[in-house]
Amino acid sequence: MAKQKTALIVGASRGLGLALAEEYCARGFRVIATVRRPAKELEQIAARYPSSLEIETTDIADAASVAALSQRLARRDLDTLFVNAGICLARENTPADVREQDFVALMLTNALSPMRFVEMFESQVAPDGIIAVMSSELGSISGNRGAWEIYSSSKAALNMLMKCFAARHAGDSRAMLLVAPGWVRTEMGTAAAMLSIEESVPAVVTAVEAHAGQPGLRFIDRHGKPLPW
Ligand SMILES: NC(=O)c1ccc[n+]([C@@H]2O[C@H](COP(=O)([O-])OP(=O)(O)OC[C@H]3O[C@@H](n4cnc5c(N)ncnc54)[C@H](OP(=O)(O)O)[C@@H]3O)[C@@H](O)[C@H]2O)c1
Repeated sequence: MAKQKTALIVGASRGLGLALAEEYCARGFRVIATVRRPAKELEQIAARYPSSLEIETTDIADAASVAALSQRLARRDLDTLFVNAGICLARENTPADVREQDFVALMLTNALSPMRFVEMFESQVAPDGIIAVMSSELGSISGNRGAWEIYSSSKAALNMLMKCFAARHAGDSRAMLLVAPGWVRTEMGTAAAMLSIEESVPAVVTAVEAHAGQPGLRFIDRHGKPLPW
């Protein structure tokens, strides 16, 4: 029998991360799903998958909290590390009027923190494993059409930091993925978004897992199609 794979899903209290945790459980993975505070819906999924889903706590923007998680999970081997956590503030602002604390919060949570998390956990990802981070089509510099400027900049910065990480790990056998899930109806995506969670997340998991054993960095959409940087 094939060994059960393990996925660490970071930011799984609601929205896409919650659905990712459930989808990975449904596909037979052992799942470690992180939240910042108790999350009822994730606990309900854990009750349905008692031998597959473990809930852990971390705030990716708090280095000490990530270091504590790293200690708790030090002996765990991972097949897929998927950092999903992110925020969207100041959608309508530009550099002319954004509050400095909103700019800093977006850059800290969406760019620095996911990559700091990757740096702390990458050594636990299997040689044929996957290091994935949730990006966005809005993070594409060449595809930019001017919306949600500060959020888009934070995802472009995330993409650059992942590119730098990949350059520093040239020859690494793991797949490194920046994933754009599409515009999805979550608290962040709003009710105006084009896709339901069910239309995005299963496709995302299929696209991500199709890259197991395929070294190199890719910026992909939910169908696994390359996106312009
Ligand atoms: N929805 C879309 O259309 C869309 C499109 C492109 C990309 N994305 C990206 O997809 C990811 C998930 O988005 P979503 O739509 O599911 O958003 P969401 O419904 O707002 O959920 C965001 C998730 O991130 C977690 N999170 C935020 N800050 C965190 C922190 N400092 N530490 C740990 N967890 C944190 C939240 O936890 P709490 O419950 O504790 O706040 C929540 O689980 C984000 O990276 C987002 O940028 C979304």
